[in-house]
Amino acid sequence: MSNAEHHHSGTRRDFLYYATGGAAIVVTGAAVWPLVNQMNPSADVQALASIPVDVSGVEPGTQLTVKFLGKPVFIRRRTVEEIEAARLVDVDDLPDPYAFNANIDGTAPALDVNRSLPAFGEEETTGEWLVMVGVCTHLGCVPLGDAGDFDGWFCPCHGSHYDTAGRIRRGPAPRNLPIPVASFIDENTIQLG
Ligand code: FES
Repeated sequence: MSNAEHHHSGTRRDFLYYATGGAAIVVTGAAVWPLVNQMNPSADVQALASIPVDVSGVEPGTQLTVKFLGKPVFIRRRTVEEIEAARLVDVDDLPDPYAFNANIDGTAPALDVNRSLPAFGEEETTGEWLVMVGVCTHLGCVPLGDAGDFDGWFCPCHGSHYDTAGRIRRGPAPRNLPIPVASFIDENTIQLG
């Protein structure tokens, strides 16, 4: 199988992963995949250290999945209810107490404010945006959105439940979903990396 064929089939397989992840992903994902495919044709392009992502079409309660450095990255615009649910959780009750956020101190507690991304111009995040690497910390499956016992993400491979801040709450995964380096560079654009 040539490289091009291999890449193509890999992309289709990835797309199916996301297509099963919820209607919200498919709606916004359809606009994104052509861009993503263009951005991943070769190793040198894959190695891009940062990419801008237009999030202007992401409505509250939906998420966008983009592929960055070979991994899916979930960009979710959370509803007020999702934010409130995440903020009510006592960190002492969490299996993994660390924020796991590459943008701040690695030992910061897994409070929701330490996991969500400040919007453009925000000093303190209101929690509307959550950006995470969409790879289960157990054995690497891609969790499904809007799912699980905590209405966040659910990994069907072995039953790990993540909450609306992407923190592991139940199941075999040992760690919260990691937060990659990310920031808003204007009102509608998140830069990954
Ligand atoms: S890979 Fe997600 S629960 Fe095992």
